[in-house]
Amino acid sequence: MRVRLCHAQHIPAGGARGFDPAGSGRDTMFVVRSTGAWRAWRNSCPHWQGTPMAWRKDAYLTGDGRQIRCSAHGALFDLESGLCTLGPCVGESLTPVPLIQTADGHLEVDLGDIQETPQ
Ligand code: FES
Repeated sequence: MRVRLCHAQHIPAGGARGFDPAGSGRDTMFVVRSTGAWRAWRNSCPHWQGTPMAWRKDAYLTGDGRQIRCSAHGALFDLESGLCTLGPCVGESLTPVPLIQTADGHLEVDLGDIQETPQ
């Protein structure tokens, strides 16, 4: 089942926003907008799977907006690949979530792509 997140323009350039498309009560994924593209990741750090990344709502990026940062232990991730470049999980990656952009500019996800997998 597809779920609409928001209009793509409602994520500011160089910004990020968390979403709870399954209505679980917490943001389970987030979308980053950079270099004219939107990318989505599960809100789960590869250092300790399941750990949320942001210390407050939508705070997924470093101050300069050039990297994704996990607030738990400071791991930094590449905006485009999701690869951890510094911190306790160097070489591991965020889990991408396929984004669907509709003809009228909205961002959607398929709920099947964000289901938690048992560890
Ligand atoms: S849980 Fe993210 S850096 Fe440790």
